[in-house]
Amino acid sequence: MERILVTGGAGFLGSHVCERLLARGAAVRALDAFDPYYDPARKRRTAAALAARGVEVREGDVLDREVLAAALAGVDAVVHLAARPGVRASIDDPETSLRINVLGTLSVLEGLRRSEVQRLVFASSSSVYGGDAEPPFREDAPANQPLSPYAASKRAGEHLCATYATLHGLGVFALRFFTIYGPRGRPDMAVGKFVDRALAGEPVPLYGDGSVVREFTYVDDAVEGVLAALDRTAPGGGYALCNVGGGASASVRELIAAIEDAVGCPLRVERRPPAAGDMPATGADLARARALLGYAPRVSLAEGLARTVAWARAERAAHASE
Ligand code: NAD
Ligand code: UGA
Repeated sequence: MERILVTGGAGFLGSHVCERLLARGAAVRALDAFDPYYDPARKRRTAAALAARGVEVREGDVLDREVLAAALAGVDAVVHLAARPGVRASIDDPETSLRINVLGTLSVLEGLRRSEVQRLVFASSSSVYGGDAEPPFREDAPANQPLSPYAASKRAGEHLCATYATLHGLGVFALRFFTIYGPRGRPDMAVGKFVDRALAGEPVPLYGDGSVVREFTYVDDAVEGVLAALDRTAPGGGYALCNVGGGASASVRELIAAIEDAVGCPLRVERRPPAAGDMPATGADLARARALLGYAPRVSLAEGLARTVAWARAERAAHASE
């Protein structure tokens, strides 16, 4: 039986990865610090639900060497997702983003070096393409002009993964995810926030004029990418990198219209100034993901939003009856 450690396992993507690993028969350990970036009570509820299904949940910080060593004991591979994930938040508090995303990743790599574990999947970001790439982004773009401290921290994480893979004979796969959404989506991100506000009948804040373009990726597709990458890491396998996108892009204005369709009522939009550090447009070239991972996204934006809205409605109903 495979034994996998998922850092950030109580978070949005991490919780879905844990569930999918369990479903394929893995023994899963989740390490999460229940970081206050958004409501830790929500992460604790997710962790409790995962524990009830058989995940071994550990509370702890990836920066804590002893905690990490204990979490690595007896596992075959690591999916490292723990991070301070917000682009805009990294401008106000760059130190926390850099500490968790860069030093936290270094800590995981050092943990691997000191242990028997030699396989790692690392969560990078489409934001690393920065200001010097035109979508669709290809992995061989220079990615030398990150537009936010968050983007710089993820680029640094990639470099550290590449260094450690070569220096210490690890097998590391870095995945550049493109704006993931779905059930349990983060409340700071456009889809999670807009759906929640729409169902509450509250206005949504729109940064800029809605012309920003994103490749939106349904969470199940992102999870497929993680599992495919995990299966292709091998001790001594070196470093590999590829995009994991949703297969189609939409402007934020188009996203709002699609959410209106999914919810069945118009959204009240409140215009705000453009967000500093925002990528003007993202889009993934998926040729390498297809070639290396056999990856192909399956869920369209309309279908993914319908599932997200159904989940959010069920959550609201469950909490209303508490
Ligand atoms: P999330 O915030 O929901 O999950 C991250 C989890 O890491 C949280 O549960 C948090 O408590 C935990 N954590 C934070 N600091 C920690 C620490 N020091 N030690 C242990 N745990 C810690 O975010 P997410 O959206 O699920 O993102 C998961 C990963 O994917 C992150 O690395 C993020 O940067 C990356 N990513 C996400 C997206 C997206 O659109 N959601 C896109 C690209 C990349
Ligand atoms: C997202 C995640 O937050 C990052 O963790 C991830 O690394 C990144 O995707 C990625 O793809 O690499 P972002 O693209 O900023 O970052 O995603 P959203 O927060 O969903 O924002 C999408 C767009 O909607 C942005 O232009 C943003 O300014 C806008 N937005 C967001 C609003 O107009 N209002 C909001 O309340 C939130």
